[in-house]
Amino acid sequence: MKKIDRELEAGSAAHYEDPAYYTKTYRSRVEDVRYYVELAVERGGPALEYGCGNGRITIPLGRSGVAVHGVDLSSTMLADLRVRLKDEPADVRERVHLHRGDMRKVRLSQRFPLVFCPFNALLHLYTRDDLERFFARALTHLTPRGELVLDVSIPQPLELSRDPGRAFHAPRFRYPDEDGGPGKMVRYTERFDYDGLRQILFVAMEFLPVDGSESWMTPLAHRQLYPQELEMLLHYNGLEITERYGDFFRAPLESSSATMLVHCRKRRGK
Ligand SMILES: C[S@@+](CC[C@H](N)C(=O)[O-])C[C@H]1O[C@@H](n2cnc3c(N)ncnc32)[C@H](O)[C@@H]1O
Repeated sequence: MKKIDRELEAGSAAHYEDPAYYTKTYRSRVEDVRYYVELAVERGGPALEYGCGNGRITIPLGRSGVAVHGVDLSSTMLADLRVRLKDEPADVRERVHLHRGDMRKVRLSQRFPLVFCPFNALLHLYTRDDLERFFARALTHLTPRGELVLDVSIPQPLELSRDPGRAFHAPRFRYPDEDGGPGKMVRYTERFDYDGLRQILFVAMEFLPVDGSESWMTPLAHRQLYPQELEMLLHYNGLEITERYGDFFRAPLESSSATMLVHCRKRRGK
């Protein structure tokens, strides 16, 4: 495998190798969970979630009474989700269906009124070919009036222009143990290296335990999708935007927005 492919493979997988850390890091991110749960309840389900991870949104969906199919490439995240499901009542467990696979390829024998790809999962598709394959698959899983909903971070010029040699320090914190226990105190830094040609932001997340034990680095690679580029990609792949917002409270999308939340449907006449 070429070095460049390895870099992308690591950048789309490494961050999902430690579900306890993932859960702790994003525990205060709740607005998107509420948004997708309300939407799925309104649409009546079943819902298909691409990049379901360890169930931050999937489990609340199941609890709300909506049947949900979750697709994810990471066996580690899915294994954690299965463990979490064991603590749920039988009716919730029955509503959640998991599929390990690549969202560019997975074919399910069912169509959904709501297909969603939350929290930057789309940014792990790095090329036009990746995105085209994904949109084609998503379309085959939509009912005729079904909606594809996704949210992605909007590229931030300041972040993209950062010097890759500069480390950005964040306050130290406890890195959780595998079982979610409080864990070791670590110093945390991030370095940003933007490849402007491929429009991929490489983030190196570095963890340095204060007890002097060995440090480690977790890479993350996110494709940068500009609002007009995403609209064009959707258009030329048979989809049209029906609603778009700048946050999960349905604020209008503006040039200062950090997030782009998009609802789309199969394009009329396609
Ligand atoms: C930021 S996480 C989102 C997880 C969960 N939906 C949440 O909101 O917490 C992105 C997820 O996308 C998954 N992923 C990345 N590339 C994928 C692909 N090609 N096919 C399926 N899942 C993928 C990762 O394994 C990860 O679990």
